[in-house]
Order: sequence, then structure tokens, then C-alpha cells
Amino acid sequence: MEELIIRGGNPLYGEVPVYGAKNSILPLLAASLLVKGESTFENCPRLSDVDTAIAILRFLGAKVETEGRKITVCTDDVTAADIPCLWMRKMRGSILFFGALLSRFGEGKSSRPGGCPLGERPVDLHLFVMEQMGFSVSEDDNGFSAKREEYCNKKRKFRLRIPSVGATENGIMLSVLTPGETKIENAAREPEIGDLIAFLNKAGAKITGAGSKTLKIEGVSSLKGICHTVIPDRIAAGTYLLAAGTAGGSVTVKGIDESLLRAAMPPLREAGFLVESFPGEIRLTRKGRPLPFSKLSTSPYPGFPTDLLPQFMAVAAYAHGTTLFVDNVFENRFSHVPDLEKGGAEIDVAGNVALVYGKEKLFGMHAQAKDLRAGAALLLAALGAQGETVLTGVEHIDRGYEKIEDTFCALGGEVLRRESE
Ligand code: UD1
Repeated sequence: MEELIIRGGNPLYGEVPVYGAKNSILPLLAASLLVKGESTFENCPRLSDVDTAIAILRFLGAKVETEGRKITVCTDDVTAADIPCLWMRKMRGSILFFGALLSRFGEGKSSRPGGCPLGERPVDLHLFVMEQMGFSVSEDDNGFSAKREEYCNKKRKFRLRIPSVGATENGIMLSVLTPGETKIENAAREPEIGDLIAFLNKAGAKITGAGSKTLKIEGVSSLKGICHTVIPDRIAAGTYLLAAGTAGGSVTVKGIDESLLRAAMPPLREAGFLVESFPGEIRLTRKGRPLPFSKLSTSPYPGFPTDLLPQFMAVAAYAHGTTLFVDNVFENRFSHVPDLEKGGAEIDVAGNVALVYGKEKLFGMHAQAKDLRAGAALLLAALGAQGETVLTGVEHIDRGYEKIEDTFCALGGEVLRRESE
């Protein structure tokens, strides 16, 4: 196990490149199972979740080659198989590989997916989508099995109870090769879903409605391999910008436009940061102690993203006043709070609501990342804190951030990775 040692207090200055989104490349790699010939993905992030996805594809018999930021996949030799629970448990996105396999082979088995412990995280909507697509699904202690019962050439229409990102992606993958028309209502609208649709349409799919609540998918008989550039990671970009919010200084993220972070922009300006955006880059400069945000409340895209809430809380912990946070997507978004309090933060939590009373200073702490974004929040808080922080649970951070210690060292921060004692 590894840990990060962070010596806080250095303001951060410089530029950070933003690579492809974790939440795009995972469904894209799953979707490569639907394609004949080679799929090439460019601008890929180097993350442990991507390694897990590649390991799943190789286990299934796919040929996967990586070269720099390019991943080339050929799934022509894949035969129906179950994904071992070792990999299913590593990340929530693994359920997309189950959906893709069902779409291609008409049957399959899967154990329950893992992922960050953000609450209950049921999979009922994924199972609902499978049933709506004509599968009979059964569940036991080991997981799920599903088999296509009917493959009829007719129109299907179903509505998601909530706009789940993963269930929308599975709905798309299950319907692109199914004859007839499928309409998904109350679909999620995250940009990463738009990226999946762009890839599939280029490969020959007929999907309309990207970015809207209703998707219409006209089944096609086959998809052909193409080259696709993954959209930039808006959550990684937001995290790097917010580091200048806790540590001070001026950070520019390169390779992303403000349009992907639209919901995060007004609160950043409200906090008194100078936020400048240019084509392909965004810069955040801290000018004195931040002001509190007015209430920050998460909701599905285009709302304020749940994956940035913990990092905004780290900034609010230094603000000149109090901020109210509400997470309407997950029940357990606040696993970083006890460790922030060890560093001197004052935060009240009640269910999915947190009240952060800003402090002028925080201090180094012994902290443990319990999930990916909580880990990012603790790291941001530590970069602005006086003294040294020891942060364990780094494996969570590595799922979504590429060599995070190098990123912050290049900006003037002091972050060292070492084996845990
Ligand atoms: C995706 C992202 C994750 C992000 C989340 C919300 C990936 C790989 N992960 O996760 O980073 O935090 O979107 O933006 O893209 N739900 C159900 N039943 C289901 C499925 C979901 O009740 O079958 C609930 C969840 O518990 C949660 C809400 O729906 O409360 C949203 O979850 P969902 O959009 O499905 O998130 P993920 O796809 O898991």
C-alpha cells in the first residue's frame, strides 16, 4: 500500500494538461465489444480503472494494444464469458461490460459491481433496462444472470425512474444492435453519454437525441471499428482548478473548454476567484481568502456534479463564512469530513446535507481516502494546510487521477508518494 505525504502551504502556479474522461473511456471500452474490427481510442487517461477495463477485455479474449495515450481494441475473437468477480468488484463501471456482453451474446452472468462506497448504489435500473430489452434476469447470492427471451422486431419504449448514467449507457448498448426502435425516456444527459453516442454513431449506429432526455435508437445489423478521441475529463479539470482555491496561486487547465464545466463556473466566480476561460483552457486565480459559496446542491447533468462536491467542500473549509452543501445523487458523499475535522475544519453533517464553517487555517492531518473524490478533497485541503499530511487510501485516488503527485509537484506543491509504513 502507498501513501502521499503532502507539505502544505505552497501556492500553485502553472498549467495542467487534461486528458480523456475516466467516465467516457470505461463505457467506450465496453462498447468496443459491440464492434467488428479495430476500435482505436485517443487521448486516453492512464488510470487504474482503465487498467481494470483492459484486463476485463483481455480476459474475454480481446486483443488490446496500448501506445502512449492510444488504446486499440479488437474484440472479434471474444466468445461469451462471465467476468470474474475479482474485476467486477473493482469498479462500478464493470457493469457496462456485462451489458455489452449481453447485447452481443444474448446471455451472460455477472457478480455485483464494486465502486466507491457512496451509498446503497442499487442496480435495479440496469436490470430494468435488460428486462425492457427482452431479457429474463435472475438474481442470487452470486450476482445476476440474464438471457434474451424474445428478439422481436418491434418498437420498445421505457422510462428510467431516475436518469442513471450507467443504466442509460447500458440501455444504449443493449439497443444499438437490437432490430427495431428503442426509445429511452428520462435518460441521463452527461457529456460522457454524448461521447459514447458519438463513438457508436461513427461506428454505424443510429442514435438520436444525444444531450436530451429522450434517446431514440434504431437497431442496426453491425458496427464497424473506427478511431475516436475521448472527451476531456471535466471532473479532473475541476479538481486541479480548485487546488488553486485551497493552496492559492493560479492554475490553468489545458485541453478543455468551459462549456463542460458550466455548472461549476458561477460558484467559483461567486467565491471571488478570477476565472478566465479561453478556447481549450480555463484558468483559476485565487485573490485572497475565498468567500463562501451560496448553497451548493448536486443534481444530474446539467446540474452541479456530485463528483465535484467534496473538492468544493475542501475550498469552503478555507472560506470566509459558511456554505451549505446538499448531495441529491448519493447518500454518502461526505466520507472525507471526519479527516478534514482532524485538520481543524468545522463541518456539521446530517444525512445528505453538510454545513461547512470556513476557517482561516487548516493543519496537516493523518487522513485516509475512503473513495475517489473524497481522496481528492483531502489532498486539496492538505495542499493549503499548515504542516504535513499523511494521506493513505491512495489506490482510490489512482482510479481517477493520473500520477496526482507529479501534477501538483509540477505546479510547485510538495507531494511525495511512498510505501506505507
Ligand atoms: C456515474 C459515474 C460516477 C458519478 C455518477 C453520477 C461512471 C463510471 N461513474 O456512476 O462517477 O458519480 O454517474 O453522476 O460513469 N441508481 C439506482 N439504481 C440503479 C442505478 C443507479 O437507484 O440501477 C441511483 C444511484 O444509487 C445514484 C443515482 O441513481 O443515487 C445516480 O447513479 P448513476 O447515475 O447510475 O451513477 P453511476 O452510473 O453508477
